[in-house]
Amino acid sequence: MLSHLSQLPARKRNGPPLSVLTCYDYPTARLLDEAGLDLLLVGDSLGMVVLGLPDTTGVTMEDMVHHIQAVARGAKRVPLIGDLPYRSYLTPDMAVRNARRLVRAGAHAVKLEGGVSMLAQVKAILAEGIPVVGHIGMLPQSVVVEGGYKKKGRTAEDAARLMADAVALDEAGACACVLESMMPEVAAAITQRVKMNTIGIGAGNACDGQVLVTPDLIGSFPWFRPPFAKARADVAGETLRAVREYVAAVVAGTLASAPAPAPAATAAEPSASAPQPVPAAVIETLVVPPEPLVVHREPLVVHSGPVAETFSETPPLEPELAEAISPSSTPE
Ligand code: KIV
Repeated sequence: MLSHLSQLPARKRNGPPLSVLTCYDYPTARLLDEAGLDLLLVGDSLGMVVLGLPDTTGVTMEDMVHHIQAVARGAKRVPLIGDLPYRSYLTPDMAVRNARRLVRAGAHAVKLEGGVSMLAQVKAILAEGIPVVGHIGMLPQSVVVEGGYKKKGRTAEDAARLMADAVALDEAGACACVLESMMPEVAAAITQRVKMNTIGIGAGNACDGQVLVTPDLIGSFPWFRPPFAKARADVAGETLRAVREYVAAVVAGTLASAPAPAPAATAAEPSASAPQPVPAAVIETLVVPPEPLVVHREPLVVHSGPVAETFSETPPLEPELAEAISPSSTPE
């Protein structure tokens, strides 16, 4: 498993393929690190699977910085790639400024979408000494312009354009490139041709590594999952089950009577030993005889000044009205 980006070229030569997942928060980062992932991507898929946005175009630099910081606290070994969000790298200067912000937040490399059209930005970031990961094929940040998520490389012309993008990024010095949703034959040809590691998503098995959106893998976002992503757990189902069980226990008044077993400790942090019952003598010292309840020591002053005066004096009822509502008066 990787612990530094400088190990990428050796992995391209010798394998095994890179295992990459997206990550957006501290506990997941700890788990993915411990599970032996090679790279974590704090992707702008954050917009959909964490923030509930319709696509990635609403994700801001502040969102990315916030989540990269959280992931960096949990990922002690595994290198982090941070996504430059939509419209955050319109010019080379802007790209450098924002790449620096992501690195300060904890990213070891930044990823941006586009090939030949983004070369000036890629070169400017690399000139700052910040590693760059490219992203070609289906580009989620262009979904609004393109009108949907469509597989790329279906025609000879499109395949040639993808190859030109990949070669340009490779020659500029990108350390890796995501190949998203493209014909497997095209992804295989690009992987053969370039020095950088290709990381496929919906692009067949011939890439140098694979990336998935973690909620798709663990089944924690059941409302949408792309067809190529196989869920290997049902976190949404387990969450519903546990929460319904909790609600039922609260309603039945049995929650406190049966403590749940302590969760299994992770290798990094062994759990404390099982709690011992508190001795009766200690409990006695905790029980303080109740004092008589004093509700108010002073007359309560709610308001002072003109507003209080308005409300504190109830004006007398008109005599006819008082007579009409008096219990002794009989309706006509
Ligand atoms: O933002 C993201 O999650 C990504 C992956 C789909 C590669 O870019």
